[in-house]
Amino acid sequence: MTDQPRHFIDTQDFTREELLRIIDLIGLLKAADKDGACPKLLAGASLGMIFEEPSTRTRVSFEVAMTKLGGHALYLKPGEIHLGVRESIGDTARVISRMVDVIEARTLKHQTVLDLAANATVPVINGLTDYNHPTQVICDVFTMIEHAPVGKSLTDFKLVFIGDATNVCSSLLMVSTQLGMHFTHAAPKRYQAPEAWQAIGRTNAAASGGSLTVTDDVDAAVRDADFIYTDLWWWIGQEAEIPDRTSAFMPDFQINEALLARAPAHAKFMHCLPASRGVEVTDAVMDGPRSIIFDQAENRLHAEKGLLVHFVYPRLSPPSSDLASYHRGRIESFLKP
Ligand code: CP
Repeated sequence: MTDQPRHFIDTQDFTREELLRIIDLIGLLKAADKDGACPKLLAGASLGMIFEEPSTRTRVSFEVAMTKLGGHALYLKPGEIHLGVRESIGDTARVISRMVDVIEARTLKHQTVLDLAANATVPVINGLTDYNHPTQVICDVFTMIEHAPVGKSLTDFKLVFIGDATNVCSSLLMVSTQLGMHFTHAAPKRYQAPEAWQAIGRTNAAASGGSLTVTDDVDAAVRDADFIYTDLWWWIGQEAEIPDRTSAFMPDFQINEALLARAPAHAKFMHCLPASRGVEVTDAVMDGPRSIIFDQAENRLHAEKGLLVHFVYPRLSPPSSDLASYHRGRIESFLKP
């Protein structure tokens, strides 16, 4: 197939209707999977997975998703492929595109995934960069819908993200305001969502009917929360900042039972994982009755199936049985002694 592919780099590249259609597809695929009837919609297709950073959920979910859909995934590790070293990112994208049907990439710099997409002739799916994490948040919206408070629908949800303005925070801010939800980022001023993200969120909210609040007042933020979400307070490469970050976030911004007690009784706890237990969240919350983190983690698998089917299935053109028989016959005749 030579048509220009559509990439999944940023939810901002998609309309509300497109995002909701992907989320509905995730639901259909999860239901089929739970009945042991996942359709082999990507039979014979291949996924190239590039990871410049470690991953548990993203790697396992994409690989298992391809297997369940009848396809195959290859783990392409830096140092073992020529990505930007001895070969340009563009050339790697062009070459891999000739051999696989879709590329997933977790890259240190957002520009790398943009460069892959600019040169690939198959869809590129962003598996996390230093800017955003769109596959995570599609899964998160699906998970929130599954755990919707009684009587509430998506546009009523209040999602409160407490902690550092991470790449997950960035994508949650964007997708929730796109979909008409009410998003609050609660953090010390120094670690709040940058103005550029807030400007996008405000524009989204004005169009969707949602809202964006950025505050350092945790009590006000959680008072009417439906979902309370956090992420790591530091990431690989930020180790030197651990003392400053710990003193900025601890104790007010830690998700513990005292904080949850100030939220409505129905409010659920979410985390993209991996978590630092005892740092941004306590064990009692992680393992408590209001935590939906493992449903959320499982839903990465169903979300990847939805994304892969949405972007790849329409591009596949399996041969007719006549054409398949013709070629098989030619090759078998050739092989006869
Ligand atoms: N949430 C997430 O992306 O997890 P991994 O880093 O394990 O892929």
